[in-house]
Amino acid sequence: MARNTRHELLARPDHDEVARQAFVVALKQGLNRSLRSGNEALYQAVVEPALAAGTAGPAREAIRDAMYGQSAYRSWCALNRGAQEMMWEAVGAPIRRERARLEAAAHRLAAEGAAGGSLDLDPGFDPPRGVTAMDIHLQPGGYALDLGEGDLTAGALYEAGGNLYAFGQGIGRSDSKAAHVQRFIAARWPGFSPRRILDMGCSAGSASVPHALAYPGAQVHAIDVGAGMLRYAHARAAALGAAVHFHQRDCVATGFPDGHFDLVVSHNLMHESSDATRRGMLRETWRLLAPGGVFVHQDVPLRFAGLSEFRKFELSWDTRNNNEPFWEVYANADLDADLAAAAIPRDRTWVGHLPQSDGSLPWFVACGSRPAE
Ligand SMILES: C[S@@+](CC[C@H](N)C(=O)[O-])C[C@H]1O[C@@H](n2cnc3c(N)ncnc32)[C@H](O)[C@@H]1O
Repeated sequence: MARNTRHELLARPDHDEVARQAFVVALKQGLNRSLRSGNEALYQAVVEPALAAGTAGPAREAIRDAMYGQSAYRSWCALNRGAQEMMWEAVGAPIRRERARLEAAAHRLAAEGAAGGSLDLDPGFDPPRGVTAMDIHLQPGGYALDLGEGDLTAGALYEAGGNLYAFGQGIGRSDSKAAHVQRFIAARWPGFSPRRILDMGCSAGSASVPHALAYPGAQVHAIDVGAGMLRYAHARAAALGAAVHFHQRDCVATGFPDGHFDLVVSHNLMHESSDATRRGMLRETWRLLAPGGVFVHQDVPLRFAGLSEFRKFELSWDTRNNNEPFWEVYANADLDADLAAAAIPRDRTWVGHLPQSDGSLPWFVACGSRPAE
């Protein structure tokens, strides 16, 4: 299912809002393509020669301090941060304007129940601090935003913002994370046909839905910690005719029985998790996996091993400027060690990169399978 999939739950921007969104995409593309390369040119021409005198090569912290001392770099940072804030405003305006229509549509879709999914919210659930402590990537109100009964804002913002962000990064519209993982599973485990699937950290359900459509014989469950996110995901899945059972649960302790799932997936959850959450999620994955089951945790290809100090400095921009507290934690994570610590036998796992079909961004995956009994 492609990124530009249309459905009833998407807010419809008016003329001015379309123009503002197009401007944000163009601004982000300019900042992240041509203007970004100016940062490295500045580093090579001015900063590195001054820093490197008499040393074996400057460390990332020294590069960062020296680069922030350059007004041209600070200007780029301010523009890039501003573009992200403008992005949320540009997608937020039509969502606020259309709030009543979106909530009414969600209510009707839930009452009709035609798709066959469900929504299981837990009023006593306390979202973990890793999600509530800050508005991750500046999404207003954060992932766990809940404005009360029927509120869908967090999910609506996440989907609309994610689309604009991806287009601004030049990520392809025609491929999707879920389709990518499905092709990978078909190639690595030919004939694998899951009966029960769990999608961890599902957000707006943009991967849960294509999994439900790709494996029509399977019962699909999806978990997240945000009520507003899950209400939207449930309504969105219904609008797209997909039966997905959404639950408000933590991926480190899901409450499902041992061996309950044949396929456990996550998409872009690891880079937004602390070391403890990522490792707990892997332990929980293995506990939940039935004999013969498969897990695939897919994420962005952000690995620090083998990179230059300048490149690490560049990639850590989001930690400081875009409220991504676990960005570098993830970039430094040793997934092989984490899988071993989760008591998953080494000969059952694989960690590596997968190119996308349109060549736009290779995904990173940590995967494995339980032996059949
Ligand atoms: C980057 S988004 C995932 C995107 C989504 N999987 C997709 O395909 O579009 C990360 C999501 O993980 C959720 N999350 C973070 N910590 C979690 C936890 N401990 N348990 C379950 N979900 C969590 C967040 O609320 C957020 O919605």
